[in-house]
Amino acid sequence: MATWDLSQTTHHVLICNGGSCMRKGGEEVTVAIRESITRAGLDDVVHTTRTRCNGRCEDACVVIVYPEGIWYENVTPEDADLLVEQHLSKGEPVKSLMTHRFMPGGFARTESARRGILKSEKVKK
Ligand code: FES
Repeated sequence: MATWDLSQTTHHVLICNGGSCMRKGGEEVTVAIRESITRAGLDDVVHTTRTRCNGRCEDACVVIVYPEGIWYENVTPEDADLLVEQHLSKGEPVKSLMTHRFMPGGFARTESARRGILKSEKVKK
């Protein structure tokens, strides 16, 4: 397995490959984003990682981009080029897919984002 040189990395893209996201096309989203990154010539500056569940399954497919701390929902393979061109190339997050953005003091939720439940509210069955 390769060990990447991350010294020039500008963005880290976490692509959820948990069960719910995989049922909503997580593999296709992963491939589409990675191919779009390659086409855009960003392989040396954008690192991608497949993750397990990120705890926002109703938002499947979930994609998260750092360092901005942007959480995206309902990502499809057709969104890959927009995410890459607008966010990773130009630094402008795609507002129509955003649910959260990291701010000093915590994540800010967009108006349309599902609130979800706090972990402390989780009902035990
Ligand atoms: S499986 Fe992707 S958020 Fe749960």
